[in-house]
Amino acid sequence: MSSVPTPVVTPAAVELLREEFPILAVRPHGQRLAYLDNAATAQKPREVLAAIAGYYETANANVHRGVHLLSERATAAFEGARADVAAFFNAAHAHEIVFTRNATESINLVAQSWGGAHLKAGDEVLISAMEHHSNIVPWQMICQRTGAQLRVAPFDDRGTLDLEACHRLLGPKTKIVAMSHLSNALGTVNPVADLITAAHAVGAVVLVDGAQASYHMAVDVQTLDADFYVATGHKLYGPTGVGVLYGKTALLDAMPPVMGGGDMIASVTFEQSTWNVLPYKFEAGTPHIAGAVGLGAAVRFLQRVGFGWITAHEADLLTYATEAVGAVPGVRLIGTSPHKASILSFVMDGVHPHDIGTVVDRAGVAIRTGHHCAQPVMARFGVPATARASLAMYNTREDIDQLVAALHEARRVFT
Ligand SMILES: Cc1ncc(COP(=O)(O)O)c(C=O)c1O
Repeated sequence: MSSVPTPVVTPAAVELLREEFPILAVRPHGQRLAYLDNAATAQKPREVLAAIAGYYETANANVHRGVHLLSERATAAFEGARADVAAFFNAAHAHEIVFTRNATESINLVAQSWGGAHLKAGDEVLISAMEHHSNIVPWQMICQRTGAQLRVAPFDDRGTLDLEACHRLLGPKTKIVAMSHLSNALGTVNPVADLITAAHAVGAVVLVDGAQASYHMAVDVQTLDADFYVATGHKLYGPTGVGVLYGKTALLDAMPPVMGGGDMIASVTFEQSTWNVLPYKFEAGTPHIAGAVGLGAAVRFLQRVGFGWITAHEADLLTYATEAVGAVPGVRLIGTSPHKASILSFVMDGVHPHDIGTVVDRAGVAIRTGHHCAQPVMARFGVPATARASLAMYNTREDIDQLVAALHEARRVFT
């Protein structure tokens, strides 16, 4: 990358950074693009795009199986990306990083494999009421299969997790806690380190859903002492179709594979098969090699920009956006926890969120409207949907101003 900004959050630094994202030059409906739908997916910097193209142009072959030059290159690129992702999350070993398709697959893998092996009738799985459907449904499915019970920790009117309730719900029956690090619908940052300590004290393991947190803040899985941590490539400024499951070696080693096929075996006969070592035991079939290579480039990019810079910049923008959007007549913010990052959900009196989305789109502003795959959160606040603006490193105050002007226009049109 030619022009990584210095760790000083200045408008000039952000402008330099924006140059790295070619898509920001697109002019929707002839307007300047204000891309504020980052919680759905983040845009990709040039070097991620170049890494993917470069892989196909100079290294494309299947991994792990060939002795020819291209296969060696492809394997080195794929395993190099795993090492980069391991370093990004400070995993103790590269083999603790399993490449999946997305965060959803990572959670399902743990639910089916760890849950299938460990849960039984009478056991409990603890989640929170602010989870994405991806961190609810897989647990419902494994609870149905095993007879375990799903327990749900509530949050308060501002969207802050009720820690006391968590402590009350944790007990000897709790076998696993699955909790989002950062809520995609509310922007709440959950105290996952405290939860992990409390869960370990009752002998439960913890899966942290880091699909949102992982591109807004530095995550150190060893300091957190997380048993499992999941992330998704496309939110980390990488490509779609590649996800991350971090798991502690001892846990992953003891887990059965959930998908059978090539690469995940040590030996196969018609009588029985034996499993490959970590992480390959969980990576049946040809993986998304180019996706992993792109994700490797993305996490290197994130590390060079630095979370010191990113977190400070996004916190400043969130404060600015909270004030400016909250001041639009008729707007009610959904999710006002004191512990928030990068996500602003809101509704407007008399205007359906989808109508807000349509009007602001005409002004070049991309936001998300709907239930954000968090229907229980919508039910808790008594709304069918919200509008959601979500931030990334390349956003500016100009983006927020553009959104606010478009919200005034939506209000004028619909009320
Ligand atoms: C908190 C959270 N968990 C899980 C997911 C699922 O991510 P993916 O669709 O990439 O699997 C999302 C996606 O929005 C999310 O926000």
